[in-house]
Amino acid sequence: MPDAGELMDLGLAAKACAVTGASRGIGRETARMLAAEGASVLLIARGAEGLAEAVEACRSAGDAAGAEIEPLALDVAEVDAGERIVAACDERFGRLDALVNNAGTARWRDLDQVPEADWYEAWELNVMAPLRAMRAAIPAMAARGWGRIVNVSSTAAKRPSARMPEYSVAKAAELSLSRLFADRHAGEGVLVNAICPGPTKSELWMDAGGLLDQSQELGGIETRDEALRAAGEKRPLGRLAEVEEIAAAIVFLCSERASYVAGAAWSVDGGTVQVII
Ligand SMILES: NC(=O)c1ccc[n+]([C@@H]2O[C@H](COP(=O)([O-])OP(=O)(O)OC[C@H]3O[C@@H](n4cnc5c(N)ncnc54)[C@H](OP(=O)(O)O)[C@@H]3O)[C@@H](O)[C@H]2O)c1
Repeated sequence: MPDAGELMDLGLAAKACAVTGASRGIGRETARMLAAEGASVLLIARGAEGLAEAVEACRSAGDAAGAEIEPLALDVAEVDAGERIVAACDERFGRLDALVNNAGTARWRDLDQVPEADWYEAWELNVMAPLRAMRAAIPAMAARGWGRIVNVSSTAAKRPSARMPEYSVAKAAELSLSRLFADRHAGEGVLVNAICPGPTKSELWMDAGGLLDQSQELGGIETRDEALRAAGEKRPLGRLAEVEEIAAAIVFLCSERASYVAGAAWSVDGGTVQVII
């Protein structure tokens, strides 16, 4: 253990990481922070253009620390996506130490307006994709006796959001999945955790037509600024999160320093879900 007063070294230098949904928002910032710590990172998303820009940002952040940064254009909902992520990490970095299952999306609408296909799609993206990726990644991590997995869920998993029905249900299932894998693999040195972000100023919220605009329209609110203020006021901290504030928690859970955290579902939500467990 470190001496009292010693600076906290996350121990991420030379670790090999994979981050899904890394071309924008929370995933992109997580990849950038991991790179700045000296970790090599595989950035995964469907759109090659966004990926290329994110890769450049990560290379700038990680160059000095010797990080290797590589893209993988892939839909994580494909059945062989987990195996392809692990194969790409093996090929480019020689192994995979930390996996962040972050790819996701959401939209606002009423419970009665969600078509059946969208329930299945939410399940594929938030449950089957992390399940397949964990199944593919964990055996080699367990054989080496060290691994980290972070599943990015949501406050909506702990307290269903009436405006995001299929998302809430799938994110709750993702917490259960995360806990099952944590219990199974902690004894092998593979620590699986989830985080539950509150509303965060990623592209998902802030882009034109995104969650902010949807909340403005559905809430009958006059301006974007007012809608942002209204969304912020629903939480004790009084504002939405910045992507850096969510990424910091993910990076910590990927690190050497999170050595006694397993099976957690950490709220990083400005106090939004007001429970004490
Ligand atoms: N922002 C929030 O308020 C908030 C709150 C709680 C939880 N979360 C969760 O945090 C995660 C990240 O959200 P964000 O706000 O950063 O979203 P974002 O800004 O929309 O970014 C989403 C990322 O996921 C990728 N992606 C989406 N579907 C994919 C697929 N099928 N295969 C591969 N990549 C895919 C996107 O790239 P492509 O489109 O190019 O594939 C993009 O890189 C999600 O799981 C979300 O549910 C977000």
